[in-house]
Amino acid sequence: MIDKDRIAAPESPDRALLDALDLGRLPRHVAVIMDGNGRWARQRRLPRVEGHRAGIAAVRATVETAARLELEALTLYAFSTENWKRPRLEVAALMALLKEYIRRELKTLLSNDIRFRVVGRMDGLEPSVQRALERALEATADCRGMVFNIALNYSGRVEIADAARALAEDVRAGRLDPSQVDEAAIASRLYTAGQPDPDLLIRTSGELRISNFLLWQIAYAEIHVTPVLWPDFRCRHFLESLLEYQKRERRYGGVLDPVAPEEPAAAPEQRAAISR
Ligand code: FPP
Repeated sequence: MIDKDRIAAPESPDRALLDALDLGRLPRHVAVIMDGNGRWARQRRLPRVEGHRAGIAAVRATVETAARLELEALTLYAFSTENWKRPRLEVAALMALLKEYIRRELKTLLSNDIRFRVVGRMDGLEPSVQRALERALEATADCRGMVFNIALNYSGRVEIADAARALAEDVRAGRLDPSQVDEAAIASRLYTAGQPDPDLLIRTSGELRISNFLLWQIAYAEIHVTPVLWPDFRCRHFLESLLEYQKRERRYGGVLDPVAPEEPAAAPEQRAAISR
């Protein structure tokens, strides 16, 4: 049962947004491209790292709001395989912030029954980061509330290539016949196996790009781009994106209200079978 008072105090501006939401029609999974930390810092004549540090407060607010709204999954894009191209000191600072986040927030994750997961190639991260992540993975393994995926050393294309390799190995070992390679077989070998696909993808700071994020999983996601820079993103911005999501018509390639109820058209191979 969603406790609105834990999300926004009565009479607060956020509460008006929350009251406007249809709590029965929330997305099951929300994915977020956290962008704009560098610009936030530049606007304040601060080093870029300060933008990332300020971004932690937005992470905290987003994770808490999502968990209190009882979403099934939240995925935050924290570090892509391309991000290794950034200056060494910036990469080191991001990894240090990640460790600090886990150290400080693990208790909150546990008290909110949040299961922590990593999507991406964890083995490419430095050992001390891997150890911190392992600690959070183990500590929250029995949590049954929201799944909080953090995308680290992540690339959507690498994820699909990893799934393709796993399929090829299963075929070679005789565990799988090539005729069994379908969408479900691929999805079950992705890092997000077993989780619903994101219904909503949020990107902050106004850029209109997917940036190699969850390429397979966002096939039917609604996309919400906000000009807000990530360090400024708070509960109200999250609620605004959910409200916009609820205004969209999700058709998955079909029609929402056909004029006259009719049988769905047959797919070409079915048509061929019918005509035979
Ligand atoms: C993009 O901003 C942001 C990142 C590459 C890193 C996001 C990381 C955090 C918010 C902090 C660590 C996260 C966790 C979960 C502890 P940018 O630097 O590309 O911004 P710009 O486009 O304005 O330069």
